[in-house]
Amino acid sequence: MKTELLTATEAGLARAAWLLQQGELVGIPTETVYGLAADAQNEAAVKAIFVAKGRPQDNPLIVHICEEAQLGTLVREIPQAARQLAKAYWPGPLTMIFKKAACIPDAVSAGLDTVAVRLPSHPIARELIRLSGCPLAAPSANRSGVPSPTTAVRVMEDMDGRIAAVVDGGMCDVGVESTVVDMTKTPPRLLRPGGVTPAMLRDVVGEIAVDEAVVRPLKESEVAASPGMKYKHYAPNARVVLLKGTQEDYIAYVNAHAANGVGALCFEEDVPQLAAPCVVYGKRSDAATQAAGLFDALRRLDERGITLAYAVCPSEEELSLAVYNRLLRAAGFEVITLA
Ligand code: TXA
Ligand code: MG
Repeated sequence: MKTELLTATEAGLARAAWLLQQGELVGIPTETVYGLAADAQNEAAVKAIFVAKGRPQDNPLIVHICEEAQLGTLVREIPQAARQLAKAYWPGPLTMIFKKAACIPDAVSAGLDTVAVRLPSHPIARELIRLSGCPLAAPSANRSGVPSPTTAVRVMEDMDGRIAAVVDGGMCDVGVESTVVDMTKTPPRLLRPGGVTPAMLRDVVGEIAVDEAVVRPLKESEVAASPGMKYKHYAPNARVVLLKGTQEDYIAYVNAHAANGVGALCFEEDVPQLAAPCVVYGKRSDAATQAAGLFDALRRLDERGITLAYAVCPSEEELSLAVYNRLLRAAGFEVITLA
C-alpha cells in the first residue's frame, strides 16, 4: 500500500474523510499527538488499527467526537462530574471513560464494558470527524511500544506502507497524550496524566483519585485499570536511565559516566556543562516545552547513535507529572536517585 501524505487543504481533508468513510486508516493531527484514525463503528477498520500498530488486542481505543452532543449516543450514562469536566476542558486534551453503549464495537473497547471518549481541540481533527460523519477511534499513530509521533514525518516513519494516508497538520501543541480519567468511579480516577493537570481536574470536581500505576510499575498480580499502562511504552532502542537529583548532581553523574554511546537526555540549560552528546527535551522550569519536546527527543536518541541515555528528571507536579509518567515508561522504570 502506498501511503498518501495529504495537506490540510480543503481537497486534502475531503480525501482523508472519504478514505475514513471507506474504512481506511488515516493518520491525523490532534493537539496532543498524531492519531491513527478509523471509523469507530466499522469493526473491520478498527481491527486494522491493531494490525497496523502491532497493538495488543486487549488495549482499548479512544473514540474522538467533534461536538459534545455526540457523547450521548456512545455511552449509557453521563455522570454530573463528567458534564462539568466537559464544560471546562472540552474541546481539549481530556479523555473520559464511561459505560459504553451497544453501538461501540468490542474491538474498540477491547471487550471492556466501558469506552473512552475525547473531544479534541485541534481544528483539523474536528473537521475530519465532521466531514467523515463518524466518530473516530484513534490511538497514537506510532508502532506499538515506541514514542508517540508529534509530526507527520514521524507518523510516516512508523506507518508508511501500512495505512492509506497521513494528514500533515504540523507539530502537535501539547506533545503528550491526553489526560485519561475514569468517570465510572467515585471520585473520578486519573489513569493517565496529560495536558489537563490534577489541579485543573480538582478545580472542577473537587476530589480525584490518582491511580498508583501513574508513577510506579504494576506488580505481576495486578490488573491494570488502564490496559495501556501494562506495556513497555514510549521506548527508543536506547536504554534510558532516569536520574533524580539536583542539576549539579545530574551533570556530575553524566560527566563521570561519559563514554562511547552514552548521551544525555537533558534540559537546554544543562548543555553547556555536559561532556556527553546532548539531546534536549525542553527547558528546566518550563513543563510545556518538556511535554512538547519529549517524544521527538526520545526518537532523536536513536538517530544520534546513543545507546545509553541518562535522562534528567522533571518535577512530578501538574503538567510535569505527564512528562515524568512517560519518561518512567521510556526508562522501563530504571531510576537512579543521586545522593
Ligand atoms: O491524546 C490522546 O489521547 C491520543 C490522541 C490521538 O487522541 N490518543 C492516545 O491513544 O493516546 P492511545 O490508544 O495511545 O492511548 C489510550 C489509552 C491507553 O492507555 C488505553 O489503555 C486507555 O487509554 N483506555 C482506552 N479505553 C479505555 C477504557 N475503556 N478503560 C481504561 N483505559 C482505557
Ligand atoms: Mg499510545
